[in-house]
Amino acid sequence: MCGIVAYLGDKHAYPILVEGLHRLEYRGYDSAGIVLLDDEIHLVKKKGKVRDLEDAAGGTPKRSTIGIGHTRWATHGEPNDVNAHPHLSGNGRLALVHNGIIENYAILKKALERLGHTFVSETDTEVFVHLIEEYQTRDGISIEEAVLQALNRVIGAYAIVVVDKEDPDKLVAARKQSPLVVGVGDDEFLVASDASPIVKYTNKVVYLNDHELAIITRDGNLNIRDIANNHVEPRVEEIDLKIEELEKEGYDFFMHKEIHQQPQTIMDCMRGRLNVQEGWIKLGGLEEYKKQILQANRMIIAGCGTSWHAGLIAEYLFEDLARLPVEVEYASELRYRNPVIREGDVVLAISQSGETADTLAALKHVKEKGATIYGIVNVVGSSIARITHAGSYIHAGPEIGVASTKAFTGQVTLLSLMALMIGYERGTIPLTRYEELISELGQIPEKVREVLAYEEQVKYIASEIKDTANALYLGRGYNFPVALEGALKLKEISYIHAEGYPAAEMKHGPIALIDENMPVIVIATNQSAYDKILSNVQEVKARKAKVIAITTKGDEQLKKYADYIVEIPETMEPFTPLLSVIPLQLLSYYIAVMRGCNVDQPRNLAKSVTVE
Ligand code: G6P
Repeated sequence: MCGIVAYLGDKHAYPILVEGLHRLEYRGYDSAGIVLLDDEIHLVKKKGKVRDLEDAAGGTPKRSTIGIGHTRWATHGEPNDVNAHPHLSGNGRLALVHNGIIENYAILKKALERLGHTFVSETDTEVFVHLIEEYQTRDGISIEEAVLQALNRVIGAYAIVVVDKEDPDKLVAARKQSPLVVGVGDDEFLVASDASPIVKYTNKVVYLNDHELAIITRDGNLNIRDIANNHVEPRVEEIDLKIEELEKEGYDFFMHKEIHQQPQTIMDCMRGRLNVQEGWIKLGGLEEYKKQILQANRMIIAGCGTSWHAGLIAEYLFEDLARLPVEVEYASELRYRNPVIREGDVVLAISQSGETADTLAALKHVKEKGATIYGIVNVVGSSIARITHAGSYIHAGPEIGVASTKAFTGQVTLLSLMALMIGYERGTIPLTRYEELISELGQIPEKVREVLAYEEQVKYIASEIKDTANALYLGRGYNFPVALEGALKLKEISYIHAEGYPAAEMKHGPIALIDENMPVIVIATNQSAYDKILSNVQEVKARKAKVIAITTKGDEQLKKYADYIVEIPETMEPFTPLLSVIPLQLLSYYIAVMRGCNVDQPRNLAKSVTVE
């Protein structure tokens, strides 16, 4: 949802900014731009990808050691050259990049127009930079003082970086509800939406908090103030992110690499937390608030997209293993409702990025109502990780493909550990079953590896159905959320209309759509409702659909009805989603590749949705 990068130091800023924009491109990719500063502002911006920006900048961009860059996911105004960032002030003195939405921009724009400002773009961001200009010229104040005044006028969400050509050794950055990290190197600073453009240069970072302003100067000063102009002591943290984790490492697409990383990432999620031999599960991040979880009367889970699907699986896990009532909510709905929060309720947010605006807002909303809030997050140091009372990281490493894969299995692994830990401590799982379950969970990475070995078969099925206009995904029980996730993956990256449905619900509507042109992907592993789903498959087959079944190894019955089969190894029912989702990820991946889609950067989507 827009990526920001800025540099101030002794190196040539242009290549650093461009490389940083490539790393941030997953956040938005409809246009990009940079400003390099010396005595003048040198602006290049272009509709399209960062590659298009590089073409527009030509081979010999201006030498400069300070600059700002932006890759955009449009909110106000269509993606074009003019609406691309950076935006300049009317007097051409200031340049600004922005991630977020200024909600009162229309009122501010009118007020500024009355004062003689004219605007060239349709963006809220241009209003922001004109507002700063207005304060700066009206009051004859420094750039940071003018930014501070403007921040007190704007309503909405922002991460910004501003430069001033009259003060060319300074970056001014600020955040509210959109992430911003300052990298502190030797004689240089970087500012970015996440740490990925920074790690090549330094592992020391300062995460800005909401309502904070950073003033960074060439003499090595990082001065942080809050919106009331009080000094804030910068807290420098060390991050552990390796540059290889941000590369494709031989794969054509990040999504493909991330699908294949899953045996490892699931293991990383369990490392130090699950000890099968000694029979314990420890989630260090929850320790301090463990009592509240163990005594909880109800758990509310909030998330968006794929993370919401992981939440649906958690509903099955917590009810089944821990006998804990669960409600799963779309964060975007929860944030505007008036939910009843009682003593003993806990709220769990699930988010890969830890920055999704709706999830963050829902958490703040229920926190104000007195709930204890937990986070299951991938990105270390992200906003959700910082506002929750307690939580656990899934340790999946950077997920760059827009369609979530390894984060989903990481979330489900973590939720499985949590459900088992609560169930064990609440005494809702008999000891022998608990032991069997944790031993089986320990086997999951190896079983995921076995599923990945069926890749060629899935690729073949993809080639058979790639031209379809629609697809239906059916599952029951633990596999119902997997059906939703499979359908979402296909929609996201191949632009095929797909629906996930609880298999038995199919006869209340979707069955009307079934004919010989409809591929139906049925997740039919040999568990509780197996006979029922077998009947659903027969119903589908009777209407001549092409049936693709995900079954348990050795299942002979389904072979009679399905046109294509992908087998997964036998496992215990609560862990089935960790295996059954893998062929669905591969299926959508190959269909998208065969249709010539840009798998990692599907149209209109962004990895991290930091606006409403
Ligand atoms: C976007 C992404 C999805 C993701 C969702 C929630 O829509 O494209 O892949 O599932 O946001 O993101 P989060 O970071 O909160 O898990």
